[in-house]
Amino acid sequence: MEIIRTSSEMQKRALELRAAGKKIVLVPTMGFLHAGHASLIDIARREGGVVAVSIFVNPTQFGPNEDLDKYPRDFKHDCELCAEHGADIVFAPEPAEIYSPGHSTWVVEEKLSKGLCGRTRPIHFRGVATVVTKLFNLTQATVAVFGRKDAQQALIIKRMVRDLNMPVRIVVAPLVRDADKVALSSRNRYLSESERIAARSISRALLAAEPTLRPETAADAVATVRAAIEAAGGKIDYVEALSADTLDPVTAGSRSILLAVAAWFGPTRLIDNVLVEF
Ligand code: PAJ
Repeated sequence: MEIIRTSSEMQKRALELRAAGKKIVLVPTMGFLHAGHASLIDIARREGGVVAVSIFVNPTQFGPNEDLDKYPRDFKHDCELCAEHGADIVFAPEPAEIYSPGHSTWVVEEKLSKGLCGRTRPIHFRGVATVVTKLFNLTQATVAVFGRKDAQQALIIKRMVRDLNMPVRIVVAPLVRDADKVALSSRNRYLSESERIAARSISRALLAAEPTLRPETAADAVATVRAAIEAAGGKIDYVEALSADTLDPVTAGSRSILLAVAAWFGPTRLIDNVLVEF
């Protein structure tokens, strides 16, 4: 497995691979990798090209009072996990490799980014869309794999690729849960033992609502999930049921529903969702 640290080397290598007729499958991450990330690498592997995993804690997607400085890192473990799952390249640049001084060009998706996480994290998706565009350019990815854990992010990336004619196919991978059904996340490491137990209320409530989730039950599901999380001591950022492909309000004609949660347990903000298609 190759470890590449600079943007120039990454792009040079990627252009060589493409010139040799290879397909490049990218898995963008911020590191501190877990089984959710590993499942993305496994899916990338099955695409049959050169698998590149990027590990970059992207400063521009963190707000001023967010956890950029304490975001967990473990590069050695990340490389071991990437190697075990058959990645060919790890691209792990320092911020100065990605953002030149005076960086002033941004990719902004203007509709899907407004709701859910965008309401409390107003610059987050601008940072995500911009860094993902840069990663596509640097790795010359033909396919990129994203997780449904971040359902809004995956939708925004798909919309960006469509709207800007980017020659990349987006694959969205299922959400991976831990043994206690909590959605795997690098941020779970911030939770104390009691917060972790309380945080199970999110997935418990979502998974209980899932089997009967329909346009006519969506409002009740939102109220029930909200009450269950609050009863466990969580502070709600949002609980919303939206049409899963547009993030518009659910109507009688909706063919799919995303029931999405963001909630605080102590100082940690967690997100989770279930998606039902019918
Ligand atoms: P990060 O949070 O490290 O997640 C990297 C990828 O792993 C994302 O596509 C995310 O949805 C996926 N992922 C995380 N936990 C998962 C789980 N439990 N099940 C399935 N997939 C999971 O998302 C980011 O980084 C960044 O915003 C990034 C896209 C890399 C841009 O900086």
